[in-house]
Amino acid sequence: MSSSPDTIAREVRRRRTFAIISHPDAGKSTMTEALALHARMISEAGAVHGKAGRKATVSDWMEMEKARGISVSSTALQFNYTPTGLANDDPDPSALPNVINLVDTPGHADFSEDTYRVLTAVDAAVMLIDAAKGLEPQTLKLFQVCRHRGIPVITVVNKWDRPGQTPLELIDEISERIGLTPTPLYVPVGIAGDFRGLYDRRSGKYIKFSRTAGGAKIAPEELLDAETAAATEADAWTAAVEESELLSEMGQDHDQELFLAGETSPMIFTSAMLNFGVRQLLEALVSYAPAPAGRADVDGTVREVTDPFSAVVFKVQAGMDSSHRDRLAYMRIVSGEFERGMVVTHAQTGRPFATKYAQAVFGRDRSTVDTAFPGDVVGLVNATALAPGDTLFDGPRVEFPPIGSFAPEHFATLRARTAGKYKQFRKAMDQLESEGVVQVLRNNTRGDASPVLAAVGPMQFEVVTARMLAEFTVETLLEPLGYSLARRTDENSSAELDRQRGVEVFTRTDGALLALFSDKWRLQYIEKEHPDLTLEPLVAAG
Ligand code: G4P
Repeated sequence: MSSSPDTIAREVRRRRTFAIISHPDAGKSTMTEALALHARMISEAGAVHGKAGRKATVSDWMEMEKARGISVSSTALQFNYTPTGLANDDPDPSALPNVINLVDTPGHADFSEDTYRVLTAVDAAVMLIDAAKGLEPQTLKLFQVCRHRGIPVITVVNKWDRPGQTPLELIDEISERIGLTPTPLYVPVGIAGDFRGLYDRRSGKYIKFSRTAGGAKIAPEELLDAETAAATEADAWTAAVEESELLSEMGQDHDQELFLAGETSPMIFTSAMLNFGVRQLLEALVSYAPAPAGRADVDGTVREVTDPFSAVVFKVQAGMDSSHRDRLAYMRIVSGEFERGMVVTHAQTGRPFATKYAQAVFGRDRSTVDTAFPGDVVGLVNATALAPGDTLFDGPRVEFPPIGSFAPEHFATLRARTAGKYKQFRKAMDQLESEGVVQVLRNNTRGDASPVLAAVGPMQFEVVTARMLAEFTVETLLEPLGYSLARRTDENSSAELDRQRGVEVFTRTDGALLALFSDKWRLQYIEKEHPDLTLEPLVAAG
């Protein structure tokens, strides 16, 4: 039996769906584990601290994943969280817990277009930065996508237990470099490397943390009033209060409207390793991150969350099981209630799609899911017809706008090792391209036998060559090309661009004309010499 719109609305209100955007080593895995600890999904942290243990939390579907111990796929973690006063308080048994969906953004060497696509499935992002390193390239790239898509961002300064910059230096860096104004919810008491607790700017109280052995348990918290805090922490407390006053003078207090508009970012200081500040992050997500909302379709009509079922596919994972040609599509539910077994319609083909084997995707374990609501992520097996950006629906037809593709930075030509395999090669290329594994660029000079693959991360190439061989028995030759950035151009500019050294123009399968440049200096030179050429940066199309 389907739930009433009221029930759906209630389920939506208690949901928060977010992703963590960070540069490798900022502490995303440790933070994910700390969140799971606070949600009492696990009783002790430490299993996945560091690289060695990470295999335990990621899916091990592809051989490549097993070999490297990293995740090729995007997985989603769902947990309940009941907001509490202090961490050591017993949760109120009558309160309905919040449902938190944490969608994983693959990072490290597996940084790819999927990393970006995940951001189309979330309602908020947590920008996790290392207190010593500040903003790093991968975080910046992901942040750009958040900005482009209007995703509100909560900033977490992690590793406060280690020496690093001052809060004001970090705040200035973020404001100046990315134009996002941090509005700290708490100011740390104790400089980086001497993390004692947090000054809660809203209540004026002090949350004092205690360490647990190896940071394995939730850190006990004590809530102290200002007077007691001043007496116990002396200068560290005074400094925190002064910093907070300075921030207020500069207008850097949390403002929900500005946060949702992407202009400000609530900021929290944490040590994921010691489990300090993790509860405060969960509370901020519950209090400020938006609940799932309706989504505009291709015609601009909004499918409201309480409307009949609809969902967007944001990721397709293939080749998990080479004997079955298994294919798992991840969908984010946009509206209505999902019930396993439902037969829904695939908007792109108009064909029915049976969801008998829907799965909730929790890292390694694939458990079946029976019902799910807007904001939730569900994996669909045998999803051969589904591609990223596709819509599934029940009831009135709906089709959401395509996800679009992201700015590639790695380019290589690919061809079949033996000419006799050309037909399979083309078929495989079409297939992989339609799944969104890689972008494919063509031009008349190069011809169809060796198209140019364009990727956000180099691992996308490895996935292509591995799957060509495993699923289509085509051995391939991949040759990196000396280009490192792309700009969108048009017919009028392309002839002139093609005449330039270190530039080549291609047509992408979606029809976009892309000019590739060897490096940014080449691009800058050409922009200066030919100011009337169309050269637009790519973030996300569509
Ligand atoms: P990632 O997923 O973002 O790549 O980061 P990950 O959690 O793997 O953390 C990267 C390193 O930073 C790990 O150390 C981890 O223990 C450490 N780390 C994460 N959060 C904190 C924190 O709040 N404080 C401190 N001091 N360290 C933190 P590692 O040396 O790679 O592994 P290990 O020796 O700790 O096992």
